[in-house]
Amino acid sequence: MSEQTTPSATAGDYAERYGLALLPVFGTPQKVLARGEGVHVWDTEGTQYLDLLAGIAVNALGHAHPALLSAISKQAETLGHVSNFFASAPQIELAEKLLELAQAPPGSGVFFANSGSEANEAAFKIARRTGRPRILALSSSFHGRTMGALALTSKEAYRAPFEPLPGGVEFLEAGDEQALADALAPGDVAAVFAEPIQGEAGVRPLSPEYLRALRRLTREHGTLLILDEVQTGVGRTGHWFAHQATEDLQPDVMTLAKGLGGGFPIGAVISYGPAVHDLLQSGQHGTTFGGNPLASAAGLAVLGTILEDDLLAHVRSVGAQFTSEVAALDHPLIDGVRGAGLLLGIALRAPLAKEVAAAALAAGFIVNAPDESTLRLAPPLIITDQQLATFTAALPGLLDAVRESAAAATAPISDGEN
Ligand SMILES: Cc1ncc(COP(=O)(O)O)c(C=O)c1O
Repeated sequence: MSEQTTPSATAGDYAERYGLALLPVFGTPQKVLARGEGVHVWDTEGTQYLDLLAGIAVNALGHAHPALLSAISKQAETLGHVSNFFASAPQIELAEKLLELAQAPPGSGVFFANSGSEANEAAFKIARRTGRPRILALSSSFHGRTMGALALTSKEAYRAPFEPLPGGVEFLEAGDEQALADALAPGDVAAVFAEPIQGEAGVRPLSPEYLRALRRLTREHGTLLILDEVQTGVGRTGHWFAHQATEDLQPDVMTLAKGLGGGFPIGAVISYGPAVHDLLQSGQHGTTFGGNPLASAAGLAVLGTILEDDLLAHVRSVGAQFTSEVAALDHPLIDGVRGAGLLLGIALRAPLAKEVAAAALAAGFIVNAPDESTLRLAPPLIITDQQLATFTAALPGLLDAVRESAAAATAPISDGEN
């Protein structure tokens, strides 16, 4: 019998195979990653990177965290999947823990899904069940790529190829209280969807005043306030959920995903109080995988570690330290830092964010550019001041190099010597 060996592939081989085997929706991947540990990942060539993006706000505990590994492997040895004809202890425990952390009143409930888009689909269905025809979402919103989530997502380039999308959704200028009051006035709005910090739009926080107005006006008009905390939830901003930074602000529905499983796919919808709880009745929604024991065990490990290691305070502290160090750089290209905790957007004064992200990658740092003038950082919640400081130290050099090459590219071409 001949022994089968896996041929060692180069980055170029992988790029070609990726192009031949996967649909091109994400463009060309920047690197093929092979492994991760803590706040670092390594590509197939063995190059190390400081992961300042954590799979877009997902790897809350970093890579290969012992608590997550142990929870997933123990659960896989015990019970990996049951259908929704059955329950499992991790599923029930995770739902109870989320309700406790969300400070949800008695009569609240959780529905588990597998992603942020799916969580928002479920929230959309809850909204429809009010019987009201209109739904409001905000300018620059991002709620996912499935048809319902896309209907709530403002970006025309994402929406246009897939129309008609589920109807009844209108977009409001984020931050405009009068527009909100006018839109809600007829009393026929089922729900308003909002992200406390609009991550995909370039890490743009809604102001506490606007968040409070959202709560007050939706309550006045019997409209559901649905907060999408897919990117901001589970400790990312230094609070369990970003809205908890604003006093007395509790939504009617909250959606979660990303950090909840620390890399294991899971999404969740929390409905607050008995009235919202009863909107989705038996048989009106479902999923095969949502809340399976493995995903639930991962979620419990993430929440447990955040609690035990006091990561909320840690996130607030390292986020504040990083923000002040970036401000102290006083670099002409840096306009400021937006966001909270470890969901941060470095605002640039020129549309060079993509180029800076590429230069950062070449220098061993993973960040991304959600828009042309913002660098987003959403590192593992366990990252230290010292690890973040390596990026702060490299940043001025990266910015200078990109600015110089941009200036050279736009300089008039010389006629040569004559
Ligand atoms: C605020 C928000 N909602 C929803 C989603 C969609 O989540 P998923 O990609 O898990 O479907 C995202 C993803 O970036 C998000 O940032």
